[in-house]
Amino acid sequence: MTQKIVAQAHGRVNLIGEHTDYNGGWVLPTSIPQYTEIVLEKRNDQKVQLISERKESKREYIYNLGEEIPTDSWVDYLQGITKFLAPLPCGFNVHISSNIPEGSGLSSSAALEMSFLKALKELFELPHTATDLALLGQKVENEFVGARVGIMDQMATSLAQENEAIFLDTLDLSFERVSLPMEEMDLLVINSGITHRLSSADGGYNQRRAECEEAAKICGAKFLRDVTLEDLKSKDLHPQLIKRARHVISENSRVKEAVLAIKNKNLPRLGELFYASHASMRDDFEVSIPEIDLLVNLASQNKNVYGARLTGGGFGGSVVIITKKGTKEEVARELIPRYEKETGSKGTVLV
Ligand code: GLA
Repeated sequence: MTQKIVAQAHGRVNLIGEHTDYNGGWVLPTSIPQYTEIVLEKRNDQKVQLISERKESKREYIYNLGEEIPTDSWVDYLQGITKFLAPLPCGFNVHISSNIPEGSGLSSSAALEMSFLKALKELFELPHTATDLALLGQKVENEFVGARVGIMDQMATSLAQENEAIFLDTLDLSFERVSLPMEEMDLLVINSGITHRLSSADGGYNQRRAECEEAAKICGAKFLRDVTLEDLKSKDLHPQLIKRARHVISENSRVKEAVLAIKNKNLPRLGELFYASHASMRDDFEVSIPEIDLLVNLASQNKNVYGARLTGGGFGGSVVIITKKGTKEEVARELIPRYEKETGSKGTVLV
């Protein structure tokens, strides 16, 4: 019987620190229960057969190693990996199953890449460390898929565990595990039902990144991490670039403050930082959408909620909400019907 390798990677929810990773800044993701699982089996030829099964669909694709061609679909995450790992000794069958919803801001693509990479590492005894694999996943997105994402998702899906957040410095990739005071809070993630795509097709994400790079350059820095709000005032920046940079600079401070609030179990403060982060993404970075704003707004009206914000790249996706311990079901029950009534979109509880 041929050997079967099984590997998994969980989705992530970013608590705070959005659009800071490609600016050399800080992020604070945690793991979610949903995951992607890969089963790999060697073949005697050079073919890679992909079978992806989800509750709602089954998809298949087959290609030859060395003949990876972008298709503008999910298979590119895997094709990109085999292209960059070439030469691999033989082909293989890949069976994928996942319950992380796609385009919901919970890193379904990074979980796909990282579970596949972990399985390949085992099958072919690759020398790569977890960080090498994360960087390779990012390279695939940047250079094969066409989404100029940062490193947060790949690091989070390979490192994060439930009930703790990873306080990651995206410049040198050093990190600290910060345990979440789960005895005092619940974490609730609600998917707006509006999916996003971060690849070049819709441009918004890559455009934000280009704006940040331009703002940093005008300020004489490699990354916005090293720019201050005072620097922004002293330079001749277009008002739009000021807004983008202001989000990143203020968000970096919020991440550090959030870590302190978590360590001090100061959940009201953490909640304030969530709302401030959301407002900054909505008004300065302009990556929110009305449906997500509505979810955050409805959450803020509930007395059991400490804070809520858009999580992930934006342009759709999910909100992350911190509630008082033992109240998340009640909050979700109250919020979702109101959201559905006002938008006509279907909201789902993910965590
Ligand atoms: C996506 C990207 C990440 C990060 C977030 C926004 O999830 O993959 O690198 O930039 O958006 O914080």
